[in-house]
Amino acid sequence: MIERSARVIAVASGKGGAGKTNVSVNLAVALSRLGRRTMLVDCDVGLANANILLGMEGGRTLADLTRSSAQLADIACQGPGGVMLVPGHSGLGLGGGLCADARATLAAAFRPYAGDVDDVIVDTGGGMAGESLSLVSASDMILIVLAAEPTAFMDAYAVLKGLAVRHDCSRFAVVTNRVRGEADGRALFDRFRNVVEQFLPVHLDHLGSIPEDPYLRDAVLTKRCCVEAFPSAPASAAFGRLARKVAEADMPMLPGGHIFFGMEAHHGAH
Ligand SMILES: Nc1ncnc2c1ncn2[C@@H]1O[C@H](COP(=O)(O)OP(=O)(O)O)[C@@H](O)[C@H]1O
Ligand SMILES: [Mg+2]
Repeated sequence: MIERSARVIAVASGKGGAGKTNVSVNLAVALSRLGRRTMLVDCDVGLANANILLGMEGGRTLADLTRSSAQLADIACQGPGGVMLVPGHSGLGLGGGLCADARATLAAAFRPYAGDVDDVIVDTGGGMAGESLSLVSASDMILIVLAAEPTAFMDAYAVLKGLAVRHDCSRFAVVTNRVRGEADGRALFDRFRNVVEQFLPVHLDHLGSIPEDPYLRDAVLTKRCCVEAFPSAPASAAFGRLARKVAEADMPMLPGGHIFFGMEAHHGAH
């Protein structure tokens, strides 16, 4: 029986473009730099691109775990700061849509790492697909990326509602992205929380803001993550603060064998 140390943090948003992949990748590298054993798993089934931001294209992906006899160690690769990247595969259904055999294979692949990792950051595709929501709900922390755009606000609300109503999720962490500064981000969060808590029985915590930063866009264009390419850029400093918040977050680990492909070794697995 493996004791689970890995805390699973799913990064979600209402729609594409909110900044999920940039938050996932930069947060994972920043956590790794803090000395935490960090795994970044790309579960975006639409556009699996976390590897591109780490300059690690090609190679095997999550799909190889279910399609061949590859082990997690065969597909995972080491990125900046020592982060362990598990590349995703666009078009692969992960979560509720996988057959029992495939889920069991993934569970068996991840379970040996349950005690060897501190944080598992899961980049997701966002949106309301049932499969995506069930994947997000099977995590210890749901990190919603709320971008400073009017449409992003309602889309984030819709996803949060889906998670609360269909999956009984009651606690969410929010990072506000593409804001002008901390005060601006805090105001955006307060508006969001007022709407959400008025209609849904949930609790929201603000973990901070990432500013709109041209350095982040430049980093993307050169296929690097911002914290690596421009360590002193405003966004990089913000990712450093976010990583410390996440590292310190009180995150009650959810019990149950369903957590992230069965990372919870509840079935006497070894
Ligand atoms: N804080 C930011 N500052 C500037 N540009 C940003 C920021 N966050 C995201 N972007 C821009 O938005 C694009 C989409 O971000 P991405 O992380 O891929 O979103 P998602 O994964 O939610 O679809 C990035 O390539 C970048 O150009
Ligand atoms: Mg993405």
